[in-house]
Amino acid sequence: SIRAFIFDLDGVLTDTAEYHYQAWAALAKQLGIAFNRQDNEQLKGVDRMGSLQFILDKGGLQLSDNQKHAFANQKNHHYQQLIEHMSEADLFAGVHDLFAQLKQADIAIGLASASKNAAMVINRLGINQAFDYVADAAKIKQGKPHPEIFLTVAQTLGVKPAQCVGVEDSLAGLQSIIDAGMQSVGIGDAKVLQQAQWVYPHIKDLSLPRVLEQANK
Ligand code: G6P
Ligand code: MG
Repeated sequence: SIRAFIFDLDGVLTDTAEYHYQAWAALAKQLGIAFNRQDNEQLKGVDRMGSLQFILDKGGLQLSDNQKHAFANQKNHHYQQLIEHMSEADLFAGVHDLFAQLKQADIAIGLASASKNAAMVINRLGINQAFDYVADAAKIKQGKPHPEIFLTVAQTLGVKPAQCVGVEDSLAGLQSIIDAGMQSVGIGDAKVLQQAQWVYPHIKDLSLPRVLEQANK
């Protein structure tokens, strides 16, 4: 039976995927590199340096490590400005209710965000106490799509991957859930997230009873 739900943060529990996109789009523009929302689907869930490299590769731009770190820092400062005003009101509808249902069912709640800003964001959203375990992105060696982050959360929670449901809005994250051997919920466009077992347009549409009923036992 399902013993844990492991959530991505950006784009699943709040709209920060949009802010990451805006900050990367501004940097790409500054560098003269074409970058649109469709390109951004490949970027979602990918860590900071990996995301920068994707954009540089798209523009055929080669930079030194120093330059890369400077641009990555610039993007992060822009992103932090964009999230400065965030509060509990920015938590997506349905999250409190879903967390309450999970607690009621004695199912653990984990966070598997690749973002080094995740701790700040969940604090602002007022949900930091809701998690049984929050992965530290700084300690993850292989970013999504590698399964390390989801496996680390499961292991820390003391549950087998097959007893976990991972919840993701990104292609990279969905791949890590699948390669971790977990059951998968996609949040977003079913055409993009075809590989997920269940896809809901929005976290508020996720039906816990249905997922638990249909999950492989
Ligand atoms: C998440 C987001 C990505 C972001 C990554 C790193 O996975 O989906 O868009 O690039 O975190 O975030 P950070 O805040 O550490 O730059
Ligand atoms: Mg995400």
